[in-house]
Amino acid sequence: MTRHFLRDDDLSAEEQREVLRRAAALKQAPYSDQCLAGPQSVAILFDKPTLRTQASFTAGVAALGGYPMVVDGRLAGVGERESIADTARVLGRQVSAVVWRTYGQDRLEEMARYAGVPVVNALTDLFHPCQVLADLLTVTEHKGALPGLTLAYLGDGANNMAHSYLLGGALAGLHVRVGAPAGHQPDPTVLTRAKEIAAEQGGSVTVTDDPQAAAAGADVLATDTWVSMGQEALKDSKAGKDSPFLPYSLTTELVGLAAPDAIVLHCLPAYRGLEIAADLIDGPQAVVWDEAENRLHAQKALLSFLLEASR
Ligand code: NVA
Repeated sequence: MTRHFLRDDDLSAEEQREVLRRAAALKQAPYSDQCLAGPQSVAILFDKPTLRTQASFTAGVAALGGYPMVVDGRLAGVGERESIADTARVLGRQVSAVVWRTYGQDRLEEMARYAGVPVVNALTDLFHPCQVLADLLTVTEHKGALPGLTLAYLGDGANNMAHSYLLGGALAGLHVRVGAPAGHQPDPTVLTRAKEIAAEQGGSVTVTDDPQAAAAGADVLATDTWVSMGQEALKDSKAGKDSPFLPYSLTTELVGLAAPDAIVLHCLPAYRGLEIAADLIDGPQAVVWDEAENRLHAQKALLSFLLEASR
């Protein structure tokens, strides 16, 4: 059966642990897994801007012995010039896996239906599961075992990062808190699924509009831009002077309510002075450069796992 990673819970809790184990091993020995030797190609498509994702998938596929074929999705016109199904059928005959950053989750699901090879979500409007794998690796490195730790995410609770923290964090046995204003809280379907997973894994999921309550005692604090890719037209309302997210901005005062040794995550790009204070992201509690590096290790581990599981 072809295995895909379209959302965080496409891995079971045990499989997520296995991917994180492999990621840690690959960080120690970067060329020890040559699962793409040949070289086999991996198509890496972007319908939205990218820095970390392109760099980490390109470097990662090469390090696994493969050939990273970066495709500008807008040039290819996926879903416009050519249907998603036809694009998937063509790519599936040429490459060993497809990695795609796009808008709707339905687009990615359609790619997976027709590709016949593993399809990986490199960010959609709904989820950013590769980032959360990297974040979980980062938290493990700094805090040890994941189950029972509290991760508080503050800001736009309806975006891809919030949703992936809910699902991926719950799978890892974390207590996940989302602090977000009314009208910007998580998708109810994602929240329900996260609660089910948390109940199975011994963690919990909480959503609140109280930023102080969300941050209190947390081991890990996370935030993300208030204006996600594709939302440029909402910039003034989401990040302007009347932004509903202002009370959720990560500041040293807010982080002062968390555990004294709390770490701070940000998937980047960061907008200093908006969702995170400059002194915080540039200070000792922030682990954002480890987090960015860990995209590489986590995604290599994920590709290796999916290819093996699909054989
Ligand atoms: N929520 C952000 C994440 C960027 C990595 C976005 O979708 O733009």
